[in-house]
Amino acid sequence: MKVTIVGAGYVGLVTGAVLAHKGHQATCVDNDQAKLETLKRGELPIFEPGLPELVAQGIESGALRFSGEITGPVQQSELVFICVGTPPLASGKADLSYIEQVARETARALRDYTVIVEKSTVPVRTGLKVKRTIEREANPEVIFDVASNPEFLREGSAVEDMLNPDRIVIGVDSDRAREVLEELYQPFGAPLIVTDINSAEIIKHASNSFLALKISYINSVANICELAGANVEQVARGMGLDKRIGPGSLHAGIGYGGSCFPKDVDAFYDISKELGYEFTLIKMAQQINADQRRRFIQKIERALWVVKGKQVAILGLSFKPDTDDMRDAPSLDIIGWLLENGATVRAYDPESMDKAREMLPEVEYAGDAYQAAAGADALVLVTEWAEFEQLDPHKLVETMRQPILIDGRNLFEPDAMRDAGFEYVSVGR
Ligand code: UGA
Repeated sequence: MKVTIVGAGYVGLVTGAVLAHKGHQATCVDNDQAKLETLKRGELPIFEPGLPELVAQGIESGALRFSGEITGPVQQSELVFICVGTPPLASGKADLSYIEQVARETARALRDYTVIVEKSTVPVRTGLKVKRTIEREANPEVIFDVASNPEFLREGSAVEDMLNPDRIVIGVDSDRAREVLEELYQPFGAPLIVTDINSAEIIKHASNSFLALKISYINSVANICELAGANVEQVARGMGLDKRIGPGSLHAGIGYGGSCFPKDVDAFYDISKELGYEFTLIKMAQQINADQRRRFIQKIERALWVVKGKQVAILGLSFKPDTDDMRDAPSLDIIGWLLENGATVRAYDPESMDKAREMLPEVEYAGDAYQAAAGADALVLVTEWAEFEQLDPHKLVETMRQPILIDGRNLFEPDAMRDAGFEYVSVGR
């Protein structure tokens, strides 16, 4: 099928590359000319495992194209995916101006029957507003449908998640739109959940908020474990094997970050309130999350005693492993606090140092973890990249001025670290 994807960010690029891989003709449209030039050369502006190969394959076969112009691709497509950003406004609401803009531009281009699909994460009832916007702007003769098809991709495993989804949710208000989307997703062989548009929109916000809640829950349990002398990893395993609970998102640590959970929980709270319901439960999840970062910073402070003049090594900067995304990364708060309090910081991250340099110019960047640790008074693990598991703790201890290791992700085994000579602090153990 011929598909236009508007917005060549994380979601749009992965959607375009995977649909092309599954035999469709995908054109990614973006108004950022520099980004388009990069993409046409087969280079990617983001680090996402598996994506460069898929994009290269798509370009090579001609199934994946890039364009700075929307009209031509829309007129040739049966489906138009809206994948532009919905960043948070100062109020916590989602900024829907890019969605509105794309809806208008798409409307003006429409000729034959087209399904316009929202993939960006949006508050419930956005579909309705997209439909009204298109009705106002499009040629009145044109027939179209609006649908919602939220994505459930995690950065770092987005390609894998889209190729093998747990479920595909399509929210439609006509059989014709349902048939078009069923045909598109037929090659995926995944369970297809068909709902009305409002429900599909809520599925996305409710899923992200629930996962955020789960993380805040286990972080609260971790705090009790610390007070009681229990081990949160053992507790999480014992809970997660109950099928009703499940093991995912039960990893205690510094709390969630990134471009999705913090903004989506705020936006879901906000739309609920607008509709007349105060969703206090998810408000608490956000508060617990902010507290968890503060508690971690207190652990660093306790371990260092005097912060001023100390040298601190940071391992991992991105908000999670396998991505170079620095949006709402806990490292920003932690490093900001260290610098404000007079420490010097040397950091290492396998992929995100280029992006970090722009945001944290005062930090010194190291070529590897050992270089970061050399001469440091404390080593702080912020992001659990797999390569850090392979580090030799004896070698790290030897190179440091004070052997203090503060592990924000429970990556290391406490006994092994203490045996190597570390004063070791982690979360809920
Ligand atoms: C999240 C959702 O998991 C995706 O399903 C969704 O599609 C995406 O948001 C989105 O809305 O676009 P993502 O933010 O990429 O994906 O990453 P997650 O793996 O869910 O991690 C989010 C944050 O929670 C990270 O900071 C991670 O470190 C933290 N986390 C995750 C924990 O602290 N503990 C856990 O057990 C799991």
